Formats: sequence, C-alpha cells, structure tokens
Amino acid sequence: MSLSLNTAVIEPLQGATPPDQQSRRMLTRALDQALASIDRNLAHFGDDFPAPSSIAGVYPAIGNIEWTNGFWTGMLWLAYEATGARRYRDVAARHVLGFHRRQAEKIDVNHHDLGFLYSLSCVAAYKLTGSTIAAEAAMGAAHLLLERYQPRAGIIQAWGDLNDPEQSGRMIIDCNLNLPLLYWASGHSGDLRFRQAADRHIEAAARHIVRPDGSTFHTFFFDTATGLPRHGKTHQGYADDSCWARGQAWGISGFPLVFRHNGDTRLLDLSKVLANYYLNRLPEDGICYWDLIFTSGGEERDSSAAAIAACGLLELAKNLPLLDPLRADYEAAALRTVGQLSEHYANTDGAPGGGLLRHAVYHKPHRIGIDESCIWGDYFYFESLVRLSRTWEPYW
Ligand code: GLY
Repeated sequence: MSLSLNTAVIEPLQGATPPDQQSRRMLTRALDQALASIDRNLAHFGDDFPAPSSIAGVYPAIGNIEWTNGFWTGMLWLAYEATGARRYRDVAARHVLGFHRRQAEKIDVNHHDLGFLYSLSCVAAYKLTGSTIAAEAAMGAAHLLLERYQPRAGIIQAWGDLNDPEQSGRMIIDCNLNLPLLYWASGHSGDLRFRQAADRHIEAAARHIVRPDGSTFHTFFFDTATGLPRHGKTHQGYADDSCWARGQAWGISGFPLVFRHNGDTRLLDLSKVLANYYLNRLPEDGICYWDLIFTSGGEERDSSAAAIAACGLLELAKNLPLLDPLRADYEAAALRTVGQLSEHYANTDGAPGGGLLRHAVYHKPHRIGIDESCIWGDYFYFESLVRLSRTWEPYW
C-alpha cells in the first residue's frame, strides 16, 4: 500500500510555542495588499517598466533601459511563485525577450548592475521555467559583467568606461548583489573564470569596503595598474566617512548571498558585523534614516534600505547554526522591520503606478527620488513577505 502524502495530517505538537497571530495577520494583509498593487501596476504598465523612483508617488513608465528593470520582473516572478497565476508569468516571460535583446545589442549595459538586472529576470525565469532563451541572456550578461573585471585589483569596476579616469578602479558595496550572476554562470557553463572573479571581488569588498568599526564605505578606489587599494569615497551617502544606510543593507544581504555560492563562512561573520552596526543605529520604529549618521531628527527615512536589510537578516539567520546566539535576534529584527514597513510605510492609496512602499530615498546628494517609492524597495519588501510566508529558493 502506498502512502498518500496529501491526506496525512500534522498532529498538534504538545508544549509547542503558540503561533504569533499578530504577525500572521500582518503577513496575510501585507501580501494581499502587495498583490493588489502588483495587479494594478500590471494593468498600468503593460509590457513597460516602472522608473527607478516615483514622482509625487507615481512611477513614470520606462522601457528596458535602467539598472532597475529587473526588480519589476522579479516581483512578477515572485507573484507567480506566491499564487501560481499565469498572468504574472506571461508578462515576465515577455520581459525576458527584452532582456535578451538588451544584452545582445548592448543597450545600457556599460555598468556592473547586470546582476540586479539578470538574476531577477532571466536566472529566475530559467530556475522557474527552464527557459533556454533566459539562460542564454543571463550567460550573455555574465560575460559583459566579467569584461569589467580588473585582474590586478581583483575587482569589478562599478560604473563607466574602463578607461575613464574618474571611474577607473572603483568598486561599490552594491556589487555584492551582482556577484551571484557570476557564480550562476560558472555553475551553468562550467567556466571557472566567473567564479574566480567573484571570489576575488568579494574578498576585496570584505577587506576594504568594510571599515574596522563595522560600518562601510559606499565606494572604494583601487589603482588598476598596481592593484593597490587607494581610498574610500561616498556617492549616495552623507559624507565619505559616514555610512550610507542602503550601502550597509547591500552588505548585510550580499555577503550571505555570496556565501550560498562559495561556502565561505567568514562572509556570514562579516554580515553579522554589518548587521549589528546597522541594528544599533535605528530610530525607535526600526526603520533607518537614509544615512546611519542620523539616528533622530528631521532627515528622511529610507524604507528601501530597511526592506533590503530585512531580506539580508533572514538570509543570514537561515545560514547560521541553530545555536548561534544571534540567529533568533536577526529573525526577530527582520520580522519587526517587515511589520513596521507594512503598518506605517506601505502605500494604501491604490493609485495606478504607485509603489508598494513609501518613504524611500534614491539619491539624496543629487536630489533624486527623495521620500518617494523606489522600485528595489518594493521588490525587497515583497521578497521579505514571500520569504516569511513560504519556503523560497532565492533567484540570487
Ligand atoms: N545600487 C544603486 C542604489 O542602491 O541606489
């Protein structure tokens, strides 16, 4: 007689901790709200994409030209996984064709954000549907990313032409999230050059972007001729020696995501260092200011950094041993963050083209997207809800 798995029941566990009903209710409500907003925006944007940040609360529609396009496609893949509804998959699969064209025709790919773009669109498509065109596009993007590798310094240059003296030899902490594309490409193709470049880059980030006190530089320059480290500098933070909140969040989440691929447990230790620095500088409601130099007062919050940090804390906690003394604290901090975001930062006005989260900051020094929605904040908020509500395999 065969065992019928779908009729087996879970017997209540004697003495078990009662479920936290408040968190469950929060999660159900937040997921419903997020899916309603995604449906509204699916109708609003069609096959277009939301811009990186909103203007007066509404995202302008753009083509596939920004570093941020993958976040919307990634949200559609998450919605497909969360619901099984075909409408999300159909649009995301059409996006994949555009992503294929983008890398083949080299449209706005002269930067390192190819991991953000292609992990959430094409690697996700390949993992969820086995699409060979998606795999081909992701491999093409990984090749473009590898071209930015500076072998003496052992880093992937973030922005601009490789010969541009302003940008030459600059790595940035955000790039931690671009590295999973390289590890995926090595696994997919058997070509170890992708993995070796990613290993060198993460080592350089660990040594030079992280400061001794556990804060981070946003960007760091190397001499590409000698490979020697030069100096840190901010780009989107308050000052060269302050700690840009979103950069810290990219670090908290990026180090454990790279650990998934290379098994280097030092990266988990480093993520803890960054997480504790971050968590110890939060205001009362647990949602960071745009730079961690601010802990109170009238500066803007960055809800997008908080959403990234929540996903990072969950990824970090998941990879820590059961008896690690900080594991439960990180899970609790992530849950609290998501609860605060859903209670006080989620957008409930229902306007087409609006974001999931309000009160993010894109680029304060350049005065772009201040106290607006940012599409990566929406993506990571939704990813955090999916992480909390089901067993989920990252696209990263
Ligand atoms: N990676 C660019 C940003 O976080 O604004």
